[in-house]
Amino acid sequence: MASKLKIKVNGLVHNVTASLDTPLLYVLHNELHLHGPRFGCGLAQCGACSVLLDGKEIRSCVTPVAAVSGKAVTTLEGLPALYAKERGTATSQPASLHPVQQAWIDVQVAQCGYCQNGMMIQATDLLSRVKRPTDEDIRTAMNGHLCRCGTYIRITRAIKRAGAVMAKEAKS
Ligand code: FES
Ligand code: FES
Repeated sequence: MASKLKIKVNGLVHNVTASLDTPLLYVLHNELHLHGPRFGCGLAQCGACSVLLDGKEIRSCVTPVAAVSGKAVTTLEGLPALYAKERGTATSQPASLHPVQQAWIDVQVAQCGYCQNGMMIQATDLLSRVKRPTDEDIRTAMNGHLCRCGTYIRITRAIKRAGAVMAKEAKS
């Protein structure tokens, strides 16, 4: 049976109508038209559907929408505003990409791109906890994210680049 729910996504509260056990991913796609998170396996195995929940990476394909009530969901689309808020420079229309997104462009990480939403979300989670991650830190954090195109080396390079930018900006 469908219920009326309020969920906070990318800083905005949305009223949605869905069964309590509907996967968050379906609500993001079908109700809010946010297509950063992708449907891959649907089984919490690949990471394509990742979003941040109160800053921590989760798999939206297996997270019931009711479980995010009262919490803050951030999708790939919301990363620029999240970073601006963290730095205390939030405006209604943040001009820049999140450093993780910019590093992905600078390093030209993506091939087909299908997995890259989850990679960037997980990288953002990692860099919120570990400012200058080592190769081992990155391998451990990214372990549950699959890239069939094999972009792992460029992902590592981009995460280090983003970490360096964020450390520099934190001092300025
Ligand atoms: S689609 Fe969610 S982990 Fe694969
Ligand atoms: S870039 Fe194609 S699956 Fe990762």
